[in-house]
Amino acid sequence: MDIDLSSMPLAQISADIELIFVVSGEMNHRFVRDASLLEECGFTGKEGQKCYLAHVKRLYVGIASIEWDELRTGCAQAIRALRNVKASSLKVGAYAAKRETNWLAAMVEGFLLGDYSFDRYKSTKENHPIENVTISLENFDASINLVDDIQILNERLKRSLIVSDAVNFTRDVANSAPDDMTPSMMASLAAEMAREEGLEISVYDENWLEENGLGAFLAVSRASAHAPRLIHLTYTPQERPVARVALVGKGLTYDSGGLSLKPSEHMITMKADKSGASAILGIMSALAKMELPIEVHGVIGATENMIGGNAYKPDDILVAKNGKTIEVRNTDAEGRLVLADCLCYIQDYAKENEFELDAILDFATLTGACVVGLGEYTIGLMGHNKKLKESIEEAAFKAGELIAELPFNPYLKELLKSQVADICNISSSRYGGAITAALFLSEFISEENRQKWAHLDIAGPAFVEKEWGCNPHGASGAGVRLALQWLEELATR
Ligand code: BES
Ligand code: ZN
Ligand code: ZN
Repeated sequence: MDIDLSSMPLAQISADIELIFVVSGEMNHRFVRDASLLEECGFTGKEGQKCYLAHVKRLYVGIASIEWDELRTGCAQAIRALRNVKASSLKVGAYAAKRETNWLAAMVEGFLLGDYSFDRYKSTKENHPIENVTISLENFDASINLVDDIQILNERLKRSLIVSDAVNFTRDVANSAPDDMTPSMMASLAAEMAREEGLEISVYDENWLEENGLGAFLAVSRASAHAPRLIHLTYTPQERPVARVALVGKGLTYDSGGLSLKPSEHMITMKADKSGASAILGIMSALAKMELPIEVHGVIGATENMIGGNAYKPDDILVAKNGKTIEVRNTDAEGRLVLADCLCYIQDYAKENEFELDAILDFATLTGACVVGLGEYTIGLMGHNKKLKESIEEAAFKAGELIAELPFNPYLKELLKSQVADICNISSSRYGGAITAALFLSEFISEENRQKWAHLDIAGPAFVEKEWGCNPHGASGAGVRLALQWLEELATR
């Protein structure tokens, strides 16, 4: 789908269909030209209501307000409502409450993210008839003139297209069936993307993991028929970087639970346990196109967690890359083991290459407890640095992702004590599981990096088996929009 901006008034733009939002039931707004007919159809402009008047080719959609989130969802609902029309172009006005550009990002993302469907495995594909969308700068609030801003709006349009592509790419990866996205396939895909985007890439196999002491990652991978891969992508900007950031992703291409086997109803959807890794791939795919002046290291721990005679087991003692010993008491708490070694890896890499990281963010579908605590739609945010967490929350808000902090405390840390090793891979309490998982990861962040690290548990929003907002059934691409927004802001700070 192509999206363009036009400084021409709506009436002068030719398109097959016009989309009009009725905002908070305001049926006498100048954009609404069919008020009496709409009333006859029982359309009152209530949030979520849709009415397509085929003879005049106008689609009316009710939204509660022109807040960014409402607009994004409204555009997603509109484009979905047009799945079966015989038309290929759409025009719509601007809905800006003030002179800024986020309304435009929200609309563009609404159309592109809302139009996404994952039908790779379906014989009959979904229709996506709308090929062109023109957004007129004729604004809903006539007192705000946007035409003078067309240049910065066009810039913002360009970035929103890049971000939306990145989200949809992430969705494709996360939605892939586990046998179509094994660790080595993920590495090949990463290499292909790196080639296209001009990124550096290094891929390491199980022998390298063994030689380099990534004993926790290796143990998780042992019983799988598909060998593990540690994938390291690097984006280096043209100019001198203003900051260096590491993004680490959990890439469990399948999580059966291992010997602490998941019950069958909990195993379904565990192909999406690679959503953190998928987000890293999406984010990395956008950086060069966005020309961000930040050096970004994307690190992925890709493996399956399976069963077999050689599986790692409860009671095993593992040695992580930083030398810490880990008592395994549950093999289903595998993500933290893989991430622990990946976090050690990137910190050691920075040290060996004599540079300092300004931030380390990890993205992981880490705990069911996070979903229990926050619900399916919200990312759990943890870390030691208040300012860093606030900057991530701010970026998430602007990007239209839901996030909430889960606070650390010293009593929870106690729960990870092991009688036989340095630390245990699960907590001794059934409560606070999202936080204790993050506190486990924290033990693999060196003292000098503690304030630079934040953990994002995306177990809730990464994969939801129903449509919500601009997200389809399945993978949402959680974390991508907020990370790109956060990196952009870091670049201007
Ligand atoms: N991949 C799961 C977490 C998960 C659960 C992601 C639901 C998405 C939806 C993770 O590896 C896991 O199994 N965690 C365990 C930890 C427990 C054994 C301490 C969990 O959450 O039950
Ligand atoms: Zn697990
Ligand atoms: Zn897992």
